[in-house]
Amino acid sequence: MPAVAVAAELPPLLDLTDENITANTIIINNQTHDRRLKYVLERLVTHLHDFARETRLSSEEWMAAIEFLTACGKICSDTRQEFILLSDALGLSCLVDVMDHPKPENATPGTVLGPFHSHEALEFVNGESICPPDKGEQCIVICTVSDTKGRPIENALVDIWETDETGHYDVQYDVRDGPKCRGLLHSDKDGKFWFKAIRPVSYPIPHDGPVGQLLEKLNRHPFRPSHMHFKFICEGYDELVTSLYCKGDPYETTDAVFGVKSPLIIELDTVKSAEMAKMYGVEIGDWVMRYDFVLTSQEEVAALKQQKASEALAKLGVTREVVAGLPIADLD
Ligand code: BEZ
Ligand code: FE
Repeated sequence: MPAVAVAAELPPLLDLTDENITANTIIINNQTHDRRLKYVLERLVTHLHDFARETRLSSEEWMAAIEFLTACGKICSDTRQEFILLSDALGLSCLVDVMDHPKPENATPGTVLGPFHSHEALEFVNGESICPPDKGEQCIVICTVSDTKGRPIENALVDIWETDETGHYDVQYDVRDGPKCRGLLHSDKDGKFWFKAIRPVSYPIPHDGPVGQLLEKLNRHPFRPSHMHFKFICEGYDELVTSLYCKGDPYETTDAVFGVKSPLIIELDTVKSAEMAKMYGVEIGDWVMRYDFVLTSQEEVAALKQQKASEALAKLGVTREVVAGLPIADLD
């Protein structure tokens, strides 16, 4: 076993103290030859131990944290992901998305995926409704998708999902008869796609579990402002996970999961002309959502990730090799 072969080079793990436990944990983890894993574990152990030192973490508090994480695990199911909620509510999802999908100034920003994306969505053709009829306030969504040079992107796969008029996603119902308020569309030769849906409503993230209890203890509300989710998949482009937010929502600046970005807030209009109503098969007075999405190419993202990782390490005074935008451990 390799562990035995290198064991001779390891220091004896005896009489460890608050002074030397960190260095020794890092040394024993360093037996891996995976330089990314080695780097991530070295930083994880360093920050975890420093966190405990700095907060003077008590045994009772650490046990409460373990019980909290256990409760998060126990409430998870195929349709309930408490750890995504936790990551979202702690701002970690927002941070990871920004770092992993950097964008040029004129590209559409990404935002949190959340736990309600599903692979069950059906395909629709442009103009169809992704929601069941006669529920919610009708809304026609008219969009384009282009690259950062303004060139339309044809045949981009667009995955869309939103809640029903009560603020629940289809997957939150115990009894379901197929996907609702979600769908897959393709952009046409001009990069345009359009569909009928309902005007998004604000809703609370699931708060009947440990993350909800944590928010309550922190005096935080669990609401998300009204929004519609979009995910773009297109060869040669970085996958874009984003949402559009309806301007003027009472939770616009206090989203429980930190997902709102100014360029994603849009003012809804209404259908005013009979001509438009006829063109899209909607009624005068229905809501209209319009947006021009801009995707970032894979080359643009790769270059930005490399640049931003190097800048971040330099700021921290750390010298490490950066491969594909990710720092790795030095060679032994
Ligand atoms: C959502 O927008 O679907 C969502 C995002 C984060 C947590 C819960 C829900
Ligand atoms: Fe949502």
